[in-house]
Amino acid sequence: MTNVLLATFNLMPEGEPGGDLLLDALSARGIEARWVCWDDPSVDWAAADLVAVRSTWDYQRRTEEFLDWARRTERVTPVLNGAEVFAWNCDKSYLVDLAADVATVPTRTLDDATLVGGLQQALAEWGEVVIKPATGAGGVGVVVAASVQDERLEGLTAAPWVVQPVVESVRSTGETSVFVLDGRAVSQVDKSLASAADQEIRVHELYGGRSQVVDLGAEEAALAEAAVAAASSRWDCDLTYARVDMMLWEGSWAVSELELIEPGLYLDVDPANADRFADLVLSRP
Ligand SMILES: Nc1ncnc2c1ncn2[C@@H]1O[C@H](COP(=O)(O)OP(=O)(O)O)[C@@H](O)[C@H]1O
Ligand SMILES: [Mg+2]
Repeated sequence: MTNVLLATFNLMPEGEPGGDLLLDALSARGIEARWVCWDDPSVDWAAADLVAVRSTWDYQRRTEEFLDWARRTERVTPVLNGAEVFAWNCDKSYLVDLAADVATVPTRTLDDATLVGGLQQALAEWGEVVIKPATGAGGVGVVVAASVQDERLEGLTAAPWVVQPVVESVRSTGETSVFVLDGRAVSQVDKSLASAADQEIRVHELYGGRSQVVDLGAEEAALAEAAVAAASSRWDCDLTYARVDMMLWEGSWAVSELELIEPGLYLDVDPANADRFADLVLSRP
């Protein structure tokens, strides 16, 4: 393993925040790595020993193109996690599948035909609900509604969506993210809202949220590893890397997102994740 390409997108050609740390960590292990845009036609993917998809943060609006690229690329060189996993993971309805195996935030799918009926049912059951694009990232299109007439529904992006109860603990506890490398939970980052009193429920820094490294919790690690194991057996494949986001739902941790495509490593918050990811790359056959 000497030559690795880290895939990013054209608005972040230098890679994810803290991306230099990853280059340094790989270089320290004798691996020559560089950041390249996934859609750059001049890149010779076949010349690389390995491709790691990292900050391809336009895939949610270019999904088919992105998946085509991943399928083409893995025909000529190994791509960590791989295109079939990406195809499953780019639609949040994977949470419905995952619920058969591990605790997840209750999730249902909605489209234009089922919007009103599905929303009525979800509201009757859960009171306040979150509707968000089935394929989305960065908190874009996350809408909270308390009734079918709720004017916040004007913020809906194009169908399909998923609908979930508003997990109230997001206001107090926030969300936590566990990184799972080669099936083992290795580190954890807590994310909280700027203000619990806010209307905002998105923990992303863009919306004033804060992230900090915490010690790995036993319960969180166990859930994260179980979620990755469930996805691995579903796909009969090894999932090299994952980030499992979770929230406290009815007093226990439940998976809110399983990121198998391009989970940010939060290198700016947890620089040690660069070494962990570099070790993972080094250990590839
Ligand atoms: N069901 C929910 N209850 C409470 N907060 C939620 C819920 N779903 C999403 N959020 C908030 O919105 C953010 C973005 O939603 P998420 O499902 O993580 O999608 P994305 O892929 O855009 O990150 C979450 O980090 C969380 O702060
Ligand atoms: Mg998220």
